[in-house]
Amino acid sequence: MVARKERWGSRVGLILAMAGNAVGLGNFLRFPAQAIQNGGGAFILPYLICFVLMGIPLVWVEWAIGRHGGRYGHHSTPGMFQVLGTQRWLKYIGVLGLFASITVAGYYVYIESWALAYVWHSAVGTFATETPGQFFGAYVGSDRGTDLVFPAQAIFWFLVTVGLNVLVLSRGLAKGIELAAKIGLPLLILFAGILVVRGLTLTPGDPGVIESPLTGLNFIWEPRFSGLWDPSIWLAAAGQVFFTLSLGMGSVHCYASYLRANEDIALNAASAGWLNEFVEVILGGSLIIPIATAYLGLNAVLDATSSGSGFNLGFLILPTLFQGWGWFAPIAGVLWFGLLFFAGITSSLAMGQSAIAFLEDELQMDRRKSALGFGGILIVLGAFCILFYPGGSFDEFDFWSGTFVLVLFALLESVIFSYLFGIEKGWEEINRGAQLVIPKVFKVVLRFITPALLCLVFIGALFKPEDTWTAALESLVGGTGWTFSGDSVIGRVIHSGYEEYRWVDQDGSLTRAFVQDGTRAVLTLLFLGICVLVWWALSRNRRNQGDGQ
Ligand code: ALA
Repeated sequence: MVARKERWGSRVGLILAMAGNAVGLGNFLRFPAQAIQNGGGAFILPYLICFVLMGIPLVWVEWAIGRHGGRYGHHSTPGMFQVLGTQRWLKYIGVLGLFASITVAGYYVYIESWALAYVWHSAVGTFATETPGQFFGAYVGSDRGTDLVFPAQAIFWFLVTVGLNVLVLSRGLAKGIELAAKIGLPLLILFAGILVVRGLTLTPGDPGVIESPLTGLNFIWEPRFSGLWDPSIWLAAAGQVFFTLSLGMGSVHCYASYLRANEDIALNAASAGWLNEFVEVILGGSLIIPIATAYLGLNAVLDATSSGSGFNLGFLILPTLFQGWGWFAPIAGVLWFGLLFFAGITSSLAMGQSAIAFLEDELQMDRRKSALGFGGILIVLGAFCILFYPGGSFDEFDFWSGTFVLVLFALLESVIFSYLFGIEKGWEEINRGAQLVIPKVFKVVLRFITPALLCLVFIGALFKPEDTWTAALESLVGGTGWTFSGDSVIGRVIHSGYEEYRWVDQDGSLTRAFVQDGTRAVLTLLFLGICVLVWWALSRNRRNQGDGQ
């Protein structure tokens, strides 16, 4: 295969694009919600440990696999994994990365489109007359009382957002993605900075303020060592580290594949990773929690984040609270949703680039057609999330693509990198051209600790119990069995917690179980479809190379 010549325009552009890939909705919505739900200070310690022992090493691994694959002309994970060894099955492990990019984008762009719609509605003052709670229900169709909806406005904004993604992607790396990151990232940091200052200067006595915003900050930052002994908190922390660094999604590999063979990985990757942490922990952690705590008190914030996603706080509660800010209310709304939109699009572009790279490299499509092809895939996948949003299709995408596949792919890639590609070769790959001396201890971490931690996280995700782990183990030893949590992998598969499992209700309407099983079937078929495509395209390309073409 002829190596493609597309490259990043500048080092700053590369770091901003990589950081933009990582900085996303997860930094401002998911992180604060996860931190609050998992005991605030009890969550932070496992989170930081996971970041150092799993996050940063995996970031280096993904950059190294990407740069290595790029040398062979592969910019998407199936081809990259194929050149890590001689085993033909390696490309199917790579399919997981491509699959994750495409399917995470399928639901992620939908949330991104909410943010864009909310920018508009904040600017025109919709929330001054309509409560965000009512607005949201009507917007996504969850107030219709059915599992299948056709929310025209949500569809409109979704199509606009898909169009913007396609437009930027079709302009290429330097003129599209890099430019978007150079504009989007500084702006979102500025917007977040303004809101953090406004939030932290709220004082009890201001209209509606019942508590100091610092109470929320204290809750997150007061160290509680109890979290170290709770596997559920470790699972949540590891999941957040994955999601926020965009690990296991194929997008980091893809961006890194456009590096030159000796371009630094160690420093660039660490810079992008730490920039993401600054935005997540310092800005993301000081924004919605302190503001919501000031107006509602900590207990109400705990209730509002019970789903762990931050959607309630971000889309329902925050725009309501902004209304108390007088003339600044519409501006605050535009800043908040604007920053969410920029955070979202700089991440979805990375997922899109990964899919486009596959179409370009392996199917020889040109960039414009590939970008349009990606837009088409987004529309098809997004349609499931939108039309079946009340029935839970969106949640299924989030669980299987945005959680399970990421952990599975990261586990497999860490083992393949250290044991099949070989840690000596891998270490050399990470360090070639390095402008930062990576302490040798990370070689040991990469070889033993990261895969072991990932194994634990994977097993934890499979078997997570309904009750605490200690109670579940006691119950198992006592002979009363193990009850799987509804958000464990096995619990999901067996529909744990369902009183009645059926696809059609007595009144003839489709049930949530039907939507969930249907979504899983679609995801499975898509995965198998990509496997077949990869098998066909890579075999054909190999034959063509063999023929000297
Ligand atoms: N890393 C991206 C986020 O945090 C996917 O939203």
